[in-house]
Amino acid sequence: MKVGIIGSGGREHAICEVLKKSRKITKIYCFPGNAGTENISQNVNLDLENFKKLKNFILENKIGLIIVGPEKPLVDGLVDYLQKFKIKVFGPNKKASRLEGSKIFTKKLCKKYNIPTAKFGIFQNKKNAKKFLKNSKYPIVIKADNLASGKGVYICKNKIDANHAIEEIFNGKFGKAKNLLIEEFLNGEEMSFFTIHDGKNYKFFGTAQDHKRVFEGDRGKNTGGMGAYSPSRLINNKLQKKIVNKIIKPTLAGLSNQNTKYLGFLYTGLMIVNDEPFLIEFNVRMGDPECQTIIPKLKTDLYEIFLACCEERLNKLNVKWYNKKSLCIVLCSKGYPEGFKKNVEIKNLNKIITNQDKLLFHAGTIKKNKKIYAIGGRVLNFISLSKNFSSARKNIITAIHKLNWPGGFFRRDIGYKVIKK
Ligand code: AMP
Ligand code: GLY
Repeated sequence: MKVGIIGSGGREHAICEVLKKSRKITKIYCFPGNAGTENISQNVNLDLENFKKLKNFILENKIGLIIVGPEKPLVDGLVDYLQKFKIKVFGPNKKASRLEGSKIFTKKLCKKYNIPTAKFGIFQNKKNAKKFLKNSKYPIVIKADNLASGKGVYICKNKIDANHAIEEIFNGKFGKAKNLLIEEFLNGEEMSFFTIHDGKNYKFFGTAQDHKRVFEGDRGKNTGGMGAYSPSRLINNKLQKKIVNKIIKPTLAGLSNQNTKYLGFLYTGLMIVNDEPFLIEFNVRMGDPECQTIIPKLKTDLYEIFLACCEERLNKLNVKWYNKKSLCIVLCSKGYPEGFKKNVEIKNLNKIITNQDKLLFHAGTIKKNKKIYAIGGRVLNFISLSKNFSSARKNIITAIHKLNWPGGFFRRDIGYKVIKK
């Protein structure tokens, strides 16, 4: 079978690499992919907003299964469109993707189905939002309703910060804003909880903790993710049951009552407060870099899992994992998440030895005349699987030093909560 992967990040390279191991796959296409996927698949550079061209390519090349990595095409309805042409697609439809596409949709669902989440208010204009601040306690959280790549969230320490957030959002910093959300600040520890769904059945797909801030000690601006580790230190059977019963099941019931199903990965972003899970957000895809961190631990053929999901028989499949700790460090271009140089050559990549436990996934890279160049903020993902997080992190830092890329920087403290000094 030929398969296609939509996306160009570390997440998509990781999926590509793991799928490559399946004996049932004859060819992989990446739309558009990166320098890493180019070695193991055919990169196809098509405009992802042009669904028709994409569909024509898929049909002409007889691609039997499409996996959608990022949220944008999901929220835009790519799955619904391709399914009309009887193309098998792994990913949620447009209706279900509102779980990520609209924070307000999710908040309303939480209210209706009693799903634990931060108390919230929805505001349609600056005046009402600012009026609400008069009686608020700080810190307070203010969020844009649109997809904003994690940047539309403000943790406000005082009224000045809060007023600034309201101004920026309604002035269109994240696109036209009809609404904004003001939320109670939850004080706890975050955890990302993953499940995989076939529309009817679902399975646990691991936990992780990512580090979103750019600098060590979790300081500085938010990024797409500077690194992650799996499993989270917080997970245990009791907590898992609470997450499933209080959050996942009622969410699926809510979608079902709106006549839709959930097929794809579901990323449940949680705050754990005194052993109780509170929903912070849903993402309708795997996390990046959580995906790179989690899927190398998979024992079961990922292709079989995707296919079972598309054929609504995930319950018949036993999903097995290696019992290892996994850690990922992201090597970024200097300056990220602000401005950074593009087209900077990365040398020494051939010095990085990879095997089952030491992996390297590309993100913002491109190959030109046999040379590899950085073109994005997050450039390379180094992953190590080990008995413990400490040796995983050491292995990675040794590998990054071998690369010795002067254009890059990384956080040395990924996993500090699970690694003793
Ligand atoms: P989101 O895009 O909704 O995941 O928010 C981005 C980040 O903001 C989260 O990963 C949390 O660190 C933080 N955050 C969001 N909502 C809250 C909240 N109600 N209380 C505390 N922190 C929050
Ligand atoms: N690492 C956070 C995300 O994928 O949204």
